[in-house]
Amino acid sequence: MTTLNLQAHSPNDILVAAHMLRAGEVLAMPTETVYGLAANALSPAAVAKIFTAKGRPQDNPLIVHIADAKQALPLVREFPLPAKQLAAAFWPGPLTMILPKHPSVPVATTAGLDTIALRVPNHPAALALLQVCELPLAAPSANRSGSPSPTTAQHVRDDLNGRIAAIVDGGACTLGVESTVLDLTGSTPVLLRPGGVTQAQIEQVLGREIAVSLAVTQPLGEHEQPASPGLKHRHYAPKAQLTLVHGTLRAFAAYAKREQPEGLLVFDSDVEILLKIDLPVCAIVPYGNDASEQAQQLFGALRELDKRRLHTVFVRPPAQDGIGLAAYNRLLRAADFRTQSPNFVLGLCGPTGAGKSTAATLLANMGCLVIDCDDLAREIVHPGSPVLRELAADFGAEIVRDDGTLNRGELAARAFVNADTRRVLNAITHKAITALAFERMRAAQGRVVVVDAAVLLESEIAHHCDHIAVITAPDDVRRARILARDGMTADAADQRMAAQANMDFSGHTTIDNAQGEEELAAKLRELLTSILPMDYTLSQL
Ligand code: TXA
Ligand code: MG
Repeated sequence: MTTLNLQAHSPNDILVAAHMLRAGEVLAMPTETVYGLAANALSPAAVAKIFTAKGRPQDNPLIVHIADAKQALPLVREFPLPAKQLAAAFWPGPLTMILPKHPSVPVATTAGLDTIALRVPNHPAALALLQVCELPLAAPSANRSGSPSPTTAQHVRDDLNGRIAAIVDGGACTLGVESTVLDLTGSTPVLLRPGGVTQAQIEQVLGREIAVSLAVTQPLGEHEQPASPGLKHRHYAPKAQLTLVHGTLRAFAAYAKREQPEGLLVFDSDVEILLKIDLPVCAIVPYGNDASEQAQQLFGALRELDKRRLHTVFVRPPAQDGIGLAAYNRLLRAADFRTQSPNFVLGLCGPTGAGKSTAATLLANMGCLVIDCDDLAREIVHPGSPVLRELAADFGAEIVRDDGTLNRGELAARAFVNADTRRVLNAITHKAITALAFERMRAAQGRVVVVDAAVLLESEIAHHCDHIAVITAPDDVRRARILARDGMTADAADQRMAAQANMDFSGHTTIDNAQGEEELAAKLRELLTSILPMDYTLSQL
């Protein structure tokens, strides 16, 4: 089928479009929210064409558009007082109300539900069409099912050219996200989908609080049924895998540097700053500075990500209140609810006896999450672990005891033979320790993580530290501490210190720990205050 291009501002084109609708065709029309794919809501055959053109699941009901509140009356069994108040306040506008359906409305339109979704769009072309064709128009967003809603005629063409009778081009939609969906069929109104009319605005008109469906900000459980069937389908989905990264721009940038996504979706004002930072990122797509601009540009930006064929994209999420909640909700769905609050990673290194473990304990008391690489080194060789199997393959089955545990003495005898055997050992264990450390970091959202590792600089973990602090102490102090701690001879202590003589313990800060714990704690507190971005709060600072 050829798709006719019609102009919203041409009265003649509106007549042509109205004629097509009366003849049972489907066409795309502009609304203030997004483009809608319209057909006669009272004709099952016309409505069926919408589902076919979109590839929409049959269980997802359509919103019926009407010219004014009066037109609602023959479509519902009742039009209660709250609906009247809300219609008076927000129609025409981006509010869809769910009401008990009149039997005359075909079940195809409401996907078998006993309720109907109604709204009066606030767009001159949509209103003109509704008035001229004198039909209620069922119209979901005019995208292929699953892709972002269209906010320009070109978006509609990209998705549906050749599949529908016409596109009425009305330029870019002013709002950019779909209408608010409010269920008025129960005793308490329930917000099913946030949109252009905010929760606060609705509550003000009704003079009471409304409920917000959990599905607005949370993924549904596997067997849960959403109040709004549309919410169970993955929506607004670009092909790129999105991750919403919370926190400040600085934390966002540090996280992007660490994880290296292919693209960033950020606020306009971020771009200039991000370009100054040396980020290994190929594409930056902006989408506005305030919540309404972000909503207006969001779907276009999602389509842009796909045009650039990006696979992994980090997103700076909009505010979660007012109109921002609508954009945030769409992004959450587009991201399949993937969110991250990046950690701030502080690496601790330093020679034996300098007081690294003491520093780690002090930092844990201040509220940091400590990952001790010595602990990880023990964890990775638990009985039956892949690391133990790998070690046995390289150094012989004798390094594993009969009970499945690692025989450390045996491994040391075989692995510390020369530089080559050491390298083999380190290749196996460091890789596993690093992987486990990263796993722990990922699980710790938004925390200040301290990684305690003697050989931080040789490991990949060092690249993921926002800051590295070296704990040092004079040799005689270290020697005394080793003696007191490990109860070894002075010679053995000297040997252990000498073994680390060539190690490179360098970082951004050096903390001299010659005195006692109190002084060390004060220095660490001072360090955290100076390096932590604003959004990391610690309990004991
Ligand atoms: O702004 C908008 O609402 C746009 C423009 C074109 O008006 N339309 C739109 O339609 O977004 P659509 O089909 O993409 O989304 C309609 C949403 C779906 O989540 C659907 O499940 C829900 O409304 N819905 C429709 N009828 C319902 C009903 N009877 N009960 C509960 N939810 C309903
Ligand atoms: Mg839709």
